Amino acid sequence: MSIRKTPIAILISGRGSNMRSLIAACAEPDFPASVALVLSNKEDAAGLDYARSLGLPAEAVPHKAFGKDREAHERAIDARLREAGIEFVCLAGYMRLLTPFLTDAWAGRMINIHPSLLPVFPGTHTHERALEAGVRIHGCTVHHVTAGMDEGPIIAQAAVPVFPKKDSADDLAARVLVQEHVLYPAALKAVLGGNSDSVSSEDGLLVV
Ligand code: GRF
Repeated sequence: MSIRKTPIAILISGRGSNMRSLIAACAEPDFPASVALVLSNKEDAAGLDYARSLGLPAEAVPHKAFGKDREAHERAIDARLREAGIEFVCLAGYMRLLTPFLTDAWAGRMINIHPSLLPVFPGTHTHERALEAGVRIHGCTVHHVTAGMDEGPIIAQAAVPVFPKKDSADDLAARVLVQEHVLYPAALKAVLGGNSDSVSSEDGLLVV
């Protein structure tokens, strides 16, 4: 018997490598989600072209058209999500601060991946900040999205070592990104299965 696949949207702003890992996972017959829509706030996001090349619906809703009215932009995003029958949203490098309008509308049905071991290093430039702070372990986090930036309940984390004498921020970003691509589909699968406390520690992940 085939499983029911939850129709998800992926929101991106740029290259979309995490989007690719989610698309690849969703292509597996036993993965509990299908990608029904890719949305970007930027028309030139490289990830849009990739999604379109696979025949997936991929659209831009440019924030610039709404000036400083972030909520008006989010209302346009929300309308597209609902028109497309979306039931769950994955933020994947979506570089917009969200207002309570969108976080409330999708509470419990919207997750994000962040390139640090939250709650340390919320916000941007996480790899530079990890090197400056001298931490020896860094990583990534998949979490529920709430009104506070990068503050929602943690679903899963993957950790990598930091080599302070050798690592540049780019080295560290690349090491973390490998884990992001494994962690995000695993966390999505666990959440959709109602099982977010038990993301397994396969593939060398250090997962909470
Ligand atoms: C990733 O590091 C993600 O954790 C962060 O932004 C980056 C997006 O990369 N939120 P990509 O567009 O998924 O390649």
